Amino acid sequence: MKKVKIKGTGIYTPKKVVSNTDLEKIVETSDEWIFERTGIRNRRICSTEGGEWPSDMAYHATLDALKAANLEPNDIDFIVFASVTPDFKLPNTACILQQKLGITNKCAAIDIAAACSGFVYGVNMVTGLIKIGAIKNALVIGSEMLSREVNWKDRNSCILFGDGCGVAIIGENEDGDESDILSLHLGADGSGKEFFDQPIGGAVEPITETHLKEDAHYMQMKGKEMFKVATRTLAENAKLVLKKADKTLEDVDWLIPHQANVRIIETTGKMLGIPPEKVIINIDKYANTSAATVPIAMHEAIADGRIKRGDTLLLDAFGAGLTSGATLLKY
Ligand SMILES: CC(C)(COP(=O)(O)OP(=O)(O)OC[C@H]1O[C@@H](n2cnc3c(N)ncnc32)[C@H](O)[C@@H]1OP(=O)(O)O)[C@@H](O)C(=O)NCCC(=O)NCCS
Repeated sequence: MKKVKIKGTGIYTPKKVVSNTDLEKIVETSDEWIFERTGIRNRRICSTEGGEWPSDMAYHATLDALKAANLEPNDIDFIVFASVTPDFKLPNTACILQQKLGITNKCAAIDIAAACSGFVYGVNMVTGLIKIGAIKNALVIGSEMLSREVNWKDRNSCILFGDGCGVAIIGENEDGDESDILSLHLGADGSGKEFFDQPIGGAVEPITETHLKEDAHYMQMKGKEMFKVATRTLAENAKLVLKKADKTLEDVDWLIPHQANVRIIETTGKMLGIPPEKVIINIDKYANTSAATVPIAMHEAIADGRIKRGDTLLLDAFGAGLTSGATLLKY
């Protein structure tokens, strides 16, 4: 089996910053309420004029990741684009990105819809292909423009989300160092599918004028239910990947959890017994960017020097579906 390495990472965060105070002008809320209940202060919102579509954000982030990995676009032989807000229904955003990057090697390009777990799903799926030598370098993306799907009149949900993108180039470790994916887990529990959904706008119920009038076509969430399952699942999955790799929490240098609510992260941390200083948190700046939270948090901690080569990272994600996944890796 080949060893698998994160060769480079990159992010793109939209230019427009929307603060809690800005939201006070749109819905009945307050900076204090939002910060206390969620840990969020700001979120980024994509331009609707163009230039910041999910594929554009991924394009900019990938250029940085390629540079960090010292690779060319044509070195990528698999693109996995995780998003619940793709550019279009067809073609998939991975193909759009392949073209934007000028990749001419006809590499495979797929979108996956695993909500907030999408990036971790992507990492874990390509790991298998790299391990058996089927591919050499995969580009895994989490890129979301949730601002399009959020009901900006619903204070229960609109305060929670933001837009952004994070990517990682994951490939065969040819450097002879200890970097590797040590263990992984993917899971789902469809019995909680109504906790966070967007039933209007698919094949079953196309959007009608009535839906538009009633704002029924947006994402909707049962926050309390999500909160409970999220904490339990994040803690369980973290323990699972540690057990699979015969490691303990002591071996983990950094926990990089999905950023949905700082209280979810803190509760999970307490359930696991991991010291807060080992947990990467940036929800205050970006809110919940779904599939993009884990790669953005990971990239920022690499860029500012907290995460160093040889560190053991635990990626831990949970989202609508209900999907979940975790990865234990040596960076
Ligand atoms: C949504 C969430 C922040 C709500 O926090 P909470 O502590 O459970 O708050 P509650 O739902 O009990 O609401 C308390 C009160 O605040 C009100 N409220 C809700 N949103 C508000 C807002 N933005 N500003 C002010 N008040 C608000 C509610 O209406 C409620 O008022 P009521 O008691 O008069 O009915 C929290 O449940 C959460 O983060 N859940 C997880 C959501 C998530 O991230 N899911 C995605 C995972 S991938």
